[in-house]
Amino acid sequence: MRAIQAIKPGPAPRSLRLTDMPDPQPGPGQLLVRPAAIGVNYIDVYRRNGTYTMPFPHIPGSEGAGEVIAAADDATEISGFTVGSRVAWARSVSGSYADAVVVNAAQAVPVPDDLDLPTAAAVTLQGMTADYLVRSTFPVKPDHTVALYAAAGGVGLLAGQMIRRIGAHLIAVVGSAPKVELLLDDGVPQVDIVVLGTMRNVTTELAEAIRQRTDGLGAHAVFDSIGRDTFAASLESVRRRGMLVLFGGSSGPVPAFDPQELNAHGSIFLTRPTLADYTATRQELLERAARVFGEVSRGELKVRIAHSFPLAEAAAAHTALESRTTMGKVLLIP
Ligand SMILES: NC(=O)c1ccc[n+]([C@@H]2O[C@H](COP(=O)([O-])OP(=O)(O)OC[C@H]3O[C@@H](n4cnc5c(N)ncnc54)[C@H](OP(=O)(O)O)[C@@H]3O)[C@@H](O)[C@H]2O)c1
Repeated sequence: MRAIQAIKPGPAPRSLRLTDMPDPQPGPGQLLVRPAAIGVNYIDVYRRNGTYTMPFPHIPGSEGAGEVIAAADDATEISGFTVGSRVAWARSVSGSYADAVVVNAAQAVPVPDDLDLPTAAAVTLQGMTADYLVRSTFPVKPDHTVALYAAAGGVGLLAGQMIRRIGAHLIAVVGSAPKVELLLDDGVPQVDIVVLGTMRNVTTELAEAIRQRTDGLGAHAVFDSIGRDTFAASLESVRRRGMLVLFGGSSGPVPAFDPQELNAHGSIFLTRPTLADYTATRQELLERAARVFGEVSRGELKVRIAHSFPLAEAAAAHTALESRTTMGKVLLIP
């Protein structure tokens, strides 16, 4: 098979290489899948650049959707999937940036007939993330005001739609002006947009912008995926007893933090959640995936595929994602 390998930590063009290698074989409880499309996610960047510890070389990629081409007997017992089943996954065993991917059957979810595989690959990881953030970590209610960073990104576009469908007041924080047009163009009311690109001092100006839009009180919840550059502003932007949901660090990791800050900022809650803990049982995984796929099928959740790169151009896909110019999902097509 052809696969992308991350050969050493570092910038994408120096790290990611197309290689030929034998197809992996599914072990007990596993499926071998031929992906129709592979999702590129920010976690692939953290793993490639050394932010998250990984062995090198490794095949990057958590996500994809495709057809089962081989299944261990017990994999069918676990999941009901057989050769030919259409499946999606947000965690793989062998790495998703390849022509053939080993997936634990317990981690594979069925793709409904009315959903094409590239759309499923585009929405499995980021859609389930948006779902758990706004429905489980901080269950958003119609009378809430919430701030969401990277609101035109992969997770951001999906989470923003969910928040607005609930009827809550959304403060969408984006890096640059073209993203404002995208958010305004999607025709959903109740969005307040804050642009980081115009700010000289993000810590004071972002907090000020969110306070201005909340009568000085701060947001009920701040969903911060940027991390190092915005964390201090986020602390200032949560209202008394509200919640700071730190779910990523696209600008870098947050430095060491004194819990006393939480009472100083109004007895606020801080959580650093991860998808694995919100899909920890097969039942929860299936429920989240089915809810997200159902919303997409019914047209309630729009999926924006920003770029589709050939598998061989994985380095360009990473460079695009890191450039802060993508608006929506980045896919690789084998
Ligand atoms: N915890 C979880 O379970 C979980 C699961 C999935 C994703 N995530 C996190 O969610 C975030 C979004 O992931 P995604 O895959 O959907 O990516 P994305 O939002 O499509 O892309 C990342 C965005 O982060 C923003 N950003 C701000 N500062 C940046 C910087 N210094 N370098 C690069 N980007 C910067 C950019 O938007 P602006 O230019 O508009 O600011 C950029 O477009 C990531 O932090 C990821 O780790 C967490």
